[in-house]
Amino acid sequence: MMRRMRRLRKPGLRRIVAETRVSTDDLIMPLFVDGRLKTPVAIESMPGQSRHSIESLAREVEELEELGVPGVILFGLPEEKDEVGSGAYDPQGVVQRAAERIKETTSKVVVIADLCLCEYTSHGHCGLIKNQLVSNDETLPLLGKAAVSQARAGADVVAPSGMMDQMVAAIRAALDDEGFTDTPILSYAAKYASSFYGPFREAAQSGYAFGDRSGYQMDPANALEALWEVRLDIEEGADMIMVKPAMPYLDVVRMVKDEFGMPTAAYQVSGEYSMIMAAAERGWIDGEKAMGEALTSIKRAGADMILTYYAKEFARKELEG
Ligand code: PBG
Repeated sequence: MMRRMRRLRKPGLRRIVAETRVSTDDLIMPLFVDGRLKTPVAIESMPGQSRHSIESLAREVEELEELGVPGVILFGLPEEKDEVGSGAYDPQGVVQRAAERIKETTSKVVVIADLCLCEYTSHGHCGLIKNQLVSNDETLPLLGKAAVSQARAGADVVAPSGMMDQMVAAIRAALDDEGFTDTPILSYAAKYASSFYGPFREAAQSGYAFGDRSGYQMDPANALEALWEVRLDIEEGADMIMVKPAMPYLDVVRMVKDEFGMPTAAYQVSGEYSMIMAAAERGWIDGEKAMGEALTSIKRAGADMILTYYAKEFARKELEG
């Protein structure tokens, strides 16, 4: 008897035996909202993506809701930045106003607020700076304040992305103190110091003035360390955990999923998105197929949810069939 693996690779059967299928239900759309804008502005480094005004953001979320996208994550660009990142925890900050506005016209889409200081600090780092270094412990109360203001504005989930030690514990305590005991935390638990964030830093205008983020984000060389990071965040109260970026770290996604079995997110970051879009624009690859393959690989590695700039396009194509 010869086992002929190709017997199951005919179109109809192939579909039936597929182990992994990405669905719109798995996807979360990242969106940028800029407090200075009246109309949306295209982001050159991320084809198909825009920085939104609060009004255009609300319309975009309505469209995503109609397309069946289950969640969005909001990144804010404040009117002004300062040394201490006030815009992140201002009750009238851009993300807070955006969350409030979205909730006026949509009810199904889950609104996740990215929670970090880097878009709001003049130096662009994710925490307060003391002697040219990020002061972890002095940053924690500010993250707590930011979380409370976001939850109060209507955010359904807060997602700390700054890789401060003990950030989840500080945020959980602050939320609980103010009565937001049911607001879940999606922690960017294993976030690597990655060059794949390049286009995002242009999109969010959050480049840093000096140094880099390798003092608090993870070394790409380490995978076991990611398990520590995730374990600590779970112990501190994270409800969902994230690995970021996604495709260069699929081994980490798999390890994290196997070890903890928690709701696991993976973030297909700006660089991953833009590489595919740029190559597709040049006709070097089939963008839609490459994107489908990338998302399938991320899900196959164990991700329950994928943050991807392709979520809207994917949903549109899924509806078209
Ligand atoms: C920072 C943050 C970053 C991203 C999400 N949150 C950038 C960074 O750490 O430099 C990157 C997302 C992307 O590249 O798509 N709070």
